[in-house]
Amino acid sequence: MTIAARIVSTGLGVPSKLVTNKDFEKMVDTNDEWIVTRTGIRERRFLDRENGEYLETICIRAGQQALERAGLKPSDIELVICCTTSPDTFLPNTSARLTESLGLVNAAAFDLNAACAGFVTGLHTADVFIRSGEYKKILLFGADALSGALNFKDRTTSVLFGDGAGAVIIEAVENPNPEKDSMILGSRFYTTFDKKGSLCLMAGASRTPFWHEDYNTKIFPYITMNGQDVFKEASRSMMQAAQDVLKKCNVSAADVKWFVPHQANLRIIEMVARLLDFPMERVYVNVDRWGNTSAATVPTCLAEMEEKGLLKRGDLVLMDVFGGGFTYGATLARW
Ligand code: ACO
Repeated sequence: MTIAARIVSTGLGVPSKLVTNKDFEKMVDTNDEWIVTRTGIRERRFLDRENGEYLETICIRAGQQALERAGLKPSDIELVICCTTSPDTFLPNTSARLTESLGLVNAAAFDLNAACAGFVTGLHTADVFIRSGEYKKILLFGADALSGALNFKDRTTSVLFGDGAGAVIIEAVENPNPEKDSMILGSRFYTTFDKKGSLCLMAGASRTPFWHEDYNTKIFPYITMNGQDVFKEASRSMMQAAQDVLKKCNVSAADVKWFVPHQANLRIIEMVARLLDFPMERVYVNVDRWGNTSAATVPTCLAEMEEKGLLKRGDLVLMDVFGGGFTYGATLARW
């Protein structure tokens, strides 16, 4: 018997606080025109922490919607993977919290940190678990709340990120027809160490704990970035990952109905799409409304696409991501 994994449903977790570029004009020396021209971002959403909204809260929304759309009960889920770099707490981790809050009484759970590449890394992990026969139903989250790690005095990085959560349910398919059945067809993921420290969140973990003298003076508890280095690395790496997966699956870009890239910046998306020969009509974009939600970019796109009826059975969907580390990768799935 052969086993494959397929994505059966999606869910979306939208934070409550809407922050527009105009709002940023009141916080840092910036303007809507600069942000839109350089990044394509018009607005983003942040957690409303003051009113008790956390990463777990938006994951619950996404997870409940994915369960409802799949017609499953919480007790059907055997494994939860939460891909995040910004958990509510290190211990308990976010996936463990979610087993309790979503009533996933039969599920094992772990968090996975591969920065903005987390969701595709998690998809590949879930695919391998399912094909091994170990699990039949997995709930996978891509969720981040990097608003908690932004320096609101740094106008270049603070305008780029937003919070968000997306979820998918992945299920085993027995003896699939690889030519036509809905399934994950192939993935690749890679790591090239970021030697220059172009994209970092250094303090706040065990290397520089909060009581360390360097915590607030040399190694800051927020994201630092060299934008131009990241731009170059992201474009090159996303192109390579997408090309490798298409080659591995013997599929051409023309056969792919939807290209769903990591939503860091519209200019990176347009460049990678052009290099890969995807017309923008077949590229899904939500960075204008969400900003860069890190591990949540691809699953929030998928959930919006499902909501809008854009994903039809049999469509080939290419997901392609890049993030800190550097980590990057791509997955091709037949919907
Ligand atoms: N508003 C107004 N002016 C700004 C802002 C802002 N928010 N930010 C920077 N500037 C100014 C700079 O100070 C600089 O001014 P100067 O010429 O007087 O010194 C000028 O704009 C140009 O700055 P650059 O950094 O050269 O601008 P660049 O064209 O490189 O754009 C950007 C910056 C948008 C960050 C770009 O490098 C980029 O898109 N990089 C990709 C990074 C990215 O997307 N990271 C996301 C996280 S990583 C990931 O998810 C993969």
